[in-house]
Order: sequence, then C-alpha cells, then structure tokens
Amino acid sequence: MTREFQIIPPPYRIKAVELLTKKQVDIIDNRKRREIAIKKAGYNTFLLEEDDVYIDFLTDSGTNAMSDNQWAGMMLGDEAYAGSKNFYHLEKAVREIYGYKYLVPTHQGRAAEHIMSKILIKPGDFVPNNMYFTTRRVHQELAGAMWIDVSIKEAHESATWHPFKGNVDLEKLEKLIKKVGASKIPYMSLEANVNMAGGQPFSMANLRALRKLCNKYRIPIMLDGTRVVENAYFIQQRENEFKSKTIKEIVREICSYTDGATVSAKKDILVNIGGFLSCNNEKLFLEAKALVVVYEGLHTYGGLAGRDMEAMARGIYEMVNGRHIAARVNQIEYLGHLLLKAKVPIMVPVGGHGIFLDAKRFLPHIPQKQYPAQALCAAIYSESGIRGMERGIVSSGRDPKTGKERESKLELVRLAIPRRVYTHTDMDFVAQAIIRLHKMRKKISGLKMVYETKQLRFFQAKFKPIGEKLIK
Ligand code: F0G
Repeated sequence: MTREFQIIPPPYRIKAVELLTKKQVDIIDNRKRREIAIKKAGYNTFLLEEDDVYIDFLTDSGTNAMSDNQWAGMMLGDEAYAGSKNFYHLEKAVREIYGYKYLVPTHQGRAAEHIMSKILIKPGDFVPNNMYFTTRRVHQELAGAMWIDVSIKEAHESATWHPFKGNVDLEKLEKLIKKVGASKIPYMSLEANVNMAGGQPFSMANLRALRKLCNKYRIPIMLDGTRVVENAYFIQQRENEFKSKTIKEIVREICSYTDGATVSAKKDILVNIGGFLSCNNEKLFLEAKALVVVYEGLHTYGGLAGRDMEAMARGIYEMVNGRHIAARVNQIEYLGHLLLKAKVPIMVPVGGHGIFLDAKRFLPHIPQKQYPAQALCAAIYSESGIRGMERGIVSSGRDPKTGKERESKLELVRLAIPRRVYTHTDMDFVAQAIIRLHKMRKKISGLKMVYETKQLRFFQAKFKPIGEKLIK
C-alpha cells in the first residue's frame, strides 16, 4: 500500500468551470452552519440544499461534465415531436457500441426498468440478481416478482480482495432454477460493475459461463448496462485474455452475451439526463415501444428533448475512449490509496465509481439498528461539507412480505465521484477530512429513524441522533 501511486492523466483540458456560490465556499469554514443544515435535513444527505454542500459526492449520476463536443451537439437538437434526427443518431450509437438491434429511449434508467419489468414479469415470478440495485429491484417487486440474490459471497465482504466481486454464483443460480423451475424466471438480472457492492465488476469468464447456464434453461439475460464501461475496464486490467483488447471491443463482447439492457445514461454516458431499454428480441421491443408512449413519450424521444439524445449519442462514443476510462478509475484509486495508507476501512478493491467506506469497521460501537452508515455519512458532512450517501440498511429497505428491515451485510457510505468534474486537489482535501474524522470516530453517535417512505426510503427518511449530538 505504500508503493508510489501512478497517476494516469485524463485526455482533456478544462475549458469552462462551474463557479461555486459564496455560501458553498463559506461552508468549509463554518461548522455551526453545517450542523444546522444536517439537522434540518433530518441527518439525511439527500435532504441537504446544494448551497450548503462544498464537495458533492452524493452520486455520479447526472453530475458529470459534458465535453465541448457534447455541448455543441446540444445546439443541434431537433425538437420534432416525431422522428427527431437525434433519435437516429442515438440509435446508431447504441447499435455500434452496445450492439443491440432495438432501442427505446427513456428519460432515465428507472423508466426503462419499469417498462421492462411490466412486460417480462408475472406475479409469482423470481428474478435472480447479482446483488441488487434499489430501482431495478423495486420495479421487479412492484411487478410481483421476488428478488433473489445470486451474487458471490465475497461481494458482501468489504475487506476481502477479489478481482470480480460482481460475479454470479452459478451454483446458487442453478439451485434456484431447479427449485422454482425455469418458467418462473423471466430473466437473469445482471448488473455491470455492481453499484451496491462498491462498483465491482463481473469477469468475462463468469459471464460466458452464465450465458451457457442460461442457454441450458432458456432464460434470457437482461443487463443493467449503466456502468458497463467501468466493468469493461476492469476486465481489460484483470483478465489476461483482454489485456490488448480495446474498451469498445470488451463492451461489445459483454453485450453480445446478453439479450438486452436497461441503461441509465447519467453515468458512463456522461450526460445529465437520459436512459434507454435496448434488446435484440422484436417482441419485447414492440411491447416496450407501445408502453413507452404511455409512461414517457413517443418512442422516438421517450421523455427526452432532441438535444439530450444528441448529447447521449456523442457521450456513447466518448465513454469508450480507453484513456478516459483509465483516468476516471485511476482518480478513484488515488483517493482509495490515500485512505488505505491512513488505515481508513474501505471496500477493496476500490471500485469504478467511488470509494465505499465500511461503516461497520469505521464505527464498530454503533449497532446496525442505529444506522452506522447513515450516521457516518451525516458526520462526514458535519465535519467537512462533503456530501456522500448511505448504502447499507437504510438503502436496503424493508422486506415487502414481512415488513422487517433487510439487514444488509454491507453497511457502507458511498463517496461517488462524478466524471470529469473534480481534480486531484479535491481528492486530497476529501482524504484529509475523512482521515481527521476517522481519528475522532468514537465521538460519533448512532441514529434513530423518525420518518420513512414505503418505497426507496433512503431518499427521504429522517433521523435523530441517539445521544444529544451527532458528534460529541
Ligand atoms: N441502475 C444502476 C446500477 C444505477 O446505479 C441507477 C442509478 C439506476 C439503474 C437507475 O437509473 O437514476 O437514471 O433512474 N443510480 C443512481 C446512483 C441514482 O446514485 O447510483 P436512473
């Protein structure tokens, strides 16, 4: 861990910058204001006002910096209600890079998940997933399916080093198929670079074996391709066969083993809004094309403006630039390196879109029922003005059948890093703040939940410190 860190510089220069407001800059030195802000937000960083945030690592979703080329494309928006030119550009880009035949645009990823779940799932079905993503799972459950975890056990262990924690446990999957029958499994839900596991990839070897198994039982594989480029990068770095393959070739090969994908364009694709459902099956496509009109908009815009589709089309070509993705992941590894050097407990290996602090090891004095990751996340903000997100028991929510909290093995705080937005100076600043907080970790109190919503409660839940103050 003490080896010298090798920086990979990015393939761009900064041409325009977003100026922070005076309030945003002043928050760095104003602890009192931060304490008031987080209390007002019910100790939930989702409920903070952006004016009270200095560094925003809440999410890498829709927060990326577009290129001059994308902005130029925004001016070429064809805002025709039907048959916009930009739709055809997007369709071409999806066919060329992902390789799927059909495209249904949506305003963001979860809209594509909604449509796909409605079409493919019947009540009483089972959907195996390599762990879960909040929105994909909620749409599976709302459509009447039971979510089944078929991730490998290492995915749930933050300190175990495994190069492919996103792999599917094929034995677990086959056991499920034999138990419930293939006809009850509408598709295998496969997420690239598993978000909730810390941005961890699956290997191509695992995917090939998964394809074989699914062929045997005639089960389609529907990819969550939101971070497929980051997954492709790890395959290139960690699987010998792919050392000299391009990111574009690897992305294409991943998709070739799947039957379709839902994608949130707000991540890999480097835009602020957008998503799509893509597939090779004409029947699924025709049904999705019919449904998108009900929920999103006509099938040639799916809730997006023409200019958004143009920015997406251009982002799809930019995202597979090998130097771009290497520099992007390298920046995250740099922050991880600083934290590991100071013995701050984080998920290893460092993932593709952020650093995940292990709250169970960071705050061993707080039981999971007192939401240690939520408390840590609030404490980070309170200490430094940096905003992260809870990814533990709060995000995991309640079992829809029993109503009991799902006690996730992982109890993490995610510091998600937007693409092309922050510099290494920001990483140094963040590392210093987290290391400082780690030294005073015993002073941090647990929380009790005082308000929650039925679905996706982490967005709006409110909390209070168990003790008098969050940080004594
Ligand atoms: N799938 C994955 C893996 C995601 O990370 C997200 C969103 C979605 C689907 C849903 O896409 O937001 O466009 O509707 N993740 C964001 C995040 C919210 O912060 O990780 P969306």
